[in-house]
Amino acid sequence: MAESLAFSKTADRKIIYEEIIPQIEALVSGETDLVANLANICAVLKEAFDFFWVGFYLKKENQLVLNAFQGPIACTRIDFDKGVCGHAYTTRETAIVPNVDEFPEHIACASASKSEIVLPIFEKDGEVFGVLDVDSDKLNDFSEIDAEGLGEIIKIIESLI
Ligand code: SME
Repeated sequence: MAESLAFSKTADRKIIYEEIIPQIEALVSGETDLVANLANICAVLKEAFDFFWVGFYLKKENQLVLNAFQGPIACTRIDFDKGVCGHAYTTRETAIVPNVDEFPEHIACASASKSEIVLPIFEKDGEVFGVLDVDSDKLNDFSEIDAEGLGEIIKIIESLI
């Protein structure tokens, strides 16, 4: 396993996603512990993009429960009908929210969070396993490039569950 992450110092996120995805594949290969792998994926995303908050909420009984993350302390449990995370869980689709103050159900874990993207993670039987939540302290910080790049990382995670 590589001991450090290598990526270009560029503002072009597409390039960075292309560079980190093979490194994430290498990082998780041979490790069967899911939390260890999710934790390292958070660390990669935090280091590569310096996101304000990046982490996972996984379905436990009838809620989404905080799992591996990087960033400030966060809400530990989210109901399926609450927040951008709950929205992505129930609609089973990626949610990009350019301004969280304009999203009625947004849960303000941190007032510094301004925009976010949440992607569902699917089990092999089609059930939603959980979500990847990435928050930014800048308005309108996420685009289809993030949806595609993070979507590739979700595929890696789905191969592990
Ligand atoms: N922003 C999320 C809540 C979780 S935190 O921001 C870490 C939401 O509204 O779903």
